[in-house]
Amino acid sequence: MKTIRLTMAEKADRHILYQDSVQDVESELDFVEQTWKQLRSRKAEILREDFCGTANTACEWVRRGAAHQAIGVDLDADVLNWGLKNNLSTLTEEQQQRIILFNKNVLDIADEPVDIILAMNFSYYLFLSREGLRDYFASTLDGLRSDGLLILDSYGGYEAPMELQEPRECEGFTYIWDQAKFNPINSLMDCHIHFEFKDGSRIDEAFSYHWRLWTLPEITEILLEAGYSKATVYWEGTDENNEEEGNGIYEPATEGDADPGWIAYIVAEV
Ligand SMILES: C[S@@+](CC[C@H](N)C(=O)[O-])C[C@H]1O[C@@H](n2cnc3c(N)ncnc32)[C@H](O)[C@@H]1O
Repeated sequence: MKTIRLTMAEKADRHILYQDSVQDVESELDFVEQTWKQLRSRKAEILREDFCGTANTACEWVRRGAAHQAIGVDLDADVLNWGLKNNLSTLTEEQQQRIILFNKNVLDIADEPVDIILAMNFSYYLFLSREGLRDYFASTLDGLRSDGLLILDSYGGYEAPMELQEPRECEGFTYIWDQAKFNPINSLMDCHIHFEFKDGSRIDEAFSYHWRLWTLPEITEILLEAGYSKATVYWEGTDENNEEEGNGIYEPATEGDADPGWIAYIVAEV
């Protein structure tokens, strides 16, 4: 009988590759917890992860505190099921009682108000118009307690609107970020994530996004238009030993460097 040998790409799971290459839920939640502590005197308990995908962050939130509860929201039932099977299943039964996933549009969540809403991995860039983004921000405002925070990440820099491919070595595979098409007239872009393996096999377009490259002033202005009282950009500091690298510490800022590529957080206060 002939043995069929699968390629590394055929054996791989794109969600595991994504979690290993794109997400860093620990440092993301370190930032969230530190920022909450700096701005609020009580403890945060309920966190809603919008566009939660595999609910990796929501799981980490419930792991971090016995009083922590998490809500994950995503439109895609398949990715939520993957998260249930692979991420929620790693929680204890008691921890699983403190997490709930909604297969819904983020615009349609009318659950009890939460302390923190997270929209990470630039997912809100999927709203293509000012009106659409304002409606989303306004709906998050309705979903927050009176001292709640909406925390977003964002990316930019002079390479962000370029059509280019950026490979990065990860353990056991190469992650390739592909800015395939950018339209300067409306700032809409098509981006893909590809994965490549040592045996030459690939998963092309493992994930694809059609989104708008929003700028920081646009985002902060729209947050205020939607009704938030304050929107602050948290900019990354510079590594002491290498001026080209960030130090992983994000602080409130009104001035940043004209870097080729940066990631920043935005914190909006109710
Ligand atoms: C950029 S991915 C980020 C996934 C997740 N944050 C992560 O890191 O694994 C965007 C996710 O948002 C979901 N999505 C897109 N539009 C949505 C909407 N209007 N409401 C809820 N989920 C949405 C997609 O199904 C997808 O899982």
